[in-house]
Amino acid sequence: MSERERTFVMVKPDAFQRGLAGEIISRFEERGLKLVGLKLEVLDREHAEEHYGEHEDKPFFDDLVEFITSGPVVPMVWEGEDATRQVRQMIGATDPAEAAPGTIRGDYALDLGRNVVHAADHEDEGANEREIELFFDDDELVEYDQHDASWLY
Ligand code: TYD
Ligand code: MG
Repeated sequence: MSERERTFVMVKPDAFQRGLAGEIISRFEERGLKLVGLKLEVLDREHAEEHYGEHEDKPFFDDLVEFITSGPVVPMVWEGEDATRQVRQMIGATDPAEAAPGTIRGDYALDLGRNVVHAADHEDEGANEREIELFFDDDELVEYDQHDASWLY
């Protein structure tokens, strides 16, 4: 059985502007993942450049930084069994034109530069730790018992 893990996900400015933040959050809730961190912010250039540092030599880097700083984003941390790989499967291929229907990008996006959601790369060992640390302080990640329903009658 694989490990319970935490993975970093972010609603991008295109999705937020289109009113899709709730839909995207619902996908992960409905799948059964546990939300342990969430905020709303506009990234400054330095934060964006650090987040996408692995792409700094790519021709699309400047456009990517411009886009990701263009409006509010919703950074989140989701926890669950094999969460990083499961979330990557749920968001679909990087290019929405290649993303299968039923995936988030396959259902909500058309354009490679406007693909509605970011998730940490499951093939990059350190990605989650690095990205979670870049967006959240330890005390912004909430510890709670998902199954405490003592308030239900
Ligand atoms: P990447 O990390 O390769 O994709 P993913 O978001 O699936 O992890 O690329 C980061 C973002 O950069 C991607 O979501 C959209 C943008 N991008 C382009 O604009 N053009 C490109 O050719 C690629 C590969 C990515
Ligand atoms: Mg990536």
